[in-house]
Amino acid sequence: MKTYEIEKPEGKLGVLIVGLNGAVSTTFLAGVFAIRKNLAHPVGSLTQLGKIRIGKRSENNFPFVKDFVPLTSLDDLVFGGWDIRDETCLEAAKYAKVLDEKDLNSIADELNSIKPMRGVFDQKFVKRLEGHYIKSAENKYELMMQLREDIKSFKELNSLDRVVVIWAGSTETFIEQKEVHSTKENFINGMVNNDPDISPSMLYAFASIAEGAAYINGSPNLSVDISAIVDFANEMNVPVAGKDFKTGQTLIKTVIAPMLKMRLLGLNGWFSNNILGNRDGEVLDDPGSFKTKEESKLSVLNSILQPELYEELYSDYYHKVRINYYPPRGDNKEGWDNIDIFGWLGYPMELKINFLCRDSILAAPIMLDLILFADLALRSNMKGIQEWMSLFFKSPMHSENVVPEHDLFIQSMKLKNTLRKLMNETPITHLDTNGVEQIVEEYDCYE
Ligand SMILES: NC(=O)c1ccc[n+]([C@@H]2O[C@H](COP(=O)([O-])OP(=O)(O)OC[C@H]3O[C@@H](n4cnc5c(N)ncnc54)[C@H](O)[C@@H]3O)[C@@H](O)[C@H]2O)c1
Repeated sequence: MKTYEIEKPEGKLGVLIVGLNGAVSTTFLAGVFAIRKNLAHPVGSLTQLGKIRIGKRSENNFPFVKDFVPLTSLDDLVFGGWDIRDETCLEAAKYAKVLDEKDLNSIADELNSIKPMRGVFDQKFVKRLEGHYIKSAENKYELMMQLREDIKSFKELNSLDRVVVIWAGSTETFIEQKEVHSTKENFINGMVNNDPDISPSMLYAFASIAEGAAYINGSPNLSVDISAIVDFANEMNVPVAGKDFKTGQTLIKTVIAPMLKMRLLGLNGWFSNNILGNRDGEVLDDPGSFKTKEESKLSVLNSILQPELYEELYSDYYHKVRINYYPPRGDNKEGWDNIDIFGWLGYPMELKINFLCRDSILAAPIMLDLILFADLALRSNMKGIQEWMSLFFKSPMHSENVVPEHDLFIQSMKLKNTLRKLMNETPITHLDTNGVEQIVEEYDCYE
């Protein structure tokens, strides 16, 4: 059996956030500061509250994930990042209105001490925003080099060996992979020649990988999901993961759809509607940015239901996703799902789900888990696409020759078995051993 060597999480871990002044980022930072001060519990975080079974069920051994794998402690995280708004994280958190004033007051100094570096921005990619606090240069290659300098200085200033960069910036307009994205050489030439299909998020990703920093894409932007950048990550021994945090409606979709398939219940239609009033909602009100999000949200059902295998159940359903910008609700998104299904003899039934959630409250713990797991991957010499982190994404990155895994419970098993494997423990298959001892021996499994 292959054994893994994991470097210990010594020293500090640098966390650079793109979109540092956003609602998700400031809610994440506020939470980490409050948890460090014992003012809050890390609710929603797998790395902080999750447990993992080790060994046979009869052994009753369920350590915390954070005690089982060597993760960086929250006290050892150092934060920085970029934005296109010149304000401290405290000002930005107040603007976002996700957290109450009393909660912000107790960590005001910490939030006030963090301010972004100037971002790389092009309004062509985010029509609804204007960037006033941005870098300028001759071409995109020079902009990327400035981002590399930022990462280097941040490392030097804070005496850091390891950095994770995470995109929690706005959703860019929809683009597809083209020739310029196919190889590193084409991409570098494209940056030099200001190719219009190279977006700011791609420049952040390229710069991070060039500096040996793990890169996570929390939005649906194409960004790191192009051959040139994935190949570059493999070449540089750097892990990458994405895309689009799986927080509300899609989280639910990836639980309900596997259930329908498991019980062989058919689907006639699935209408997902949302109202959202924060800045993200405003950005997504632009058709280009919405299309990027829509593609990410739509991809889920087909890959779970596999209409090519279950023609009579899933080959003819109507799937619609709407996001409506509705300012009065702020960050408190409301999602409605109407699901038209059919059962025995084709008799129709309906399922209605109304989720009154809080977007940034759901996304913040995911951000923490992704950062800590990306650092673990970095220290474990895991490079390229990290499919085991699919659990956290709406549209998980995957290798060319496989389909993405969307089923939440398979994703969870995949993640936990990867952690077991990393720690040289046997993966758990949940095989029922009654009467199949022979198979159990053959597969060396536990149950
Ligand atoms: N909250 C959720 O549940 C959720 C789920 C999945 C994905 N996301 C994605 O996470 C991202 C952040 O969401 P949010 O609600 O915090 O949005 P937000 O609008 O509050 O924050 C985005 C921030 O990014 C900054 N920004 C935009 N372009 C930038 C650039 N090129 N460089 C640096 N900074 C830039 C903006 O100024 C803003 O401060 C969005 O892409 C959103 O679609 C959020």
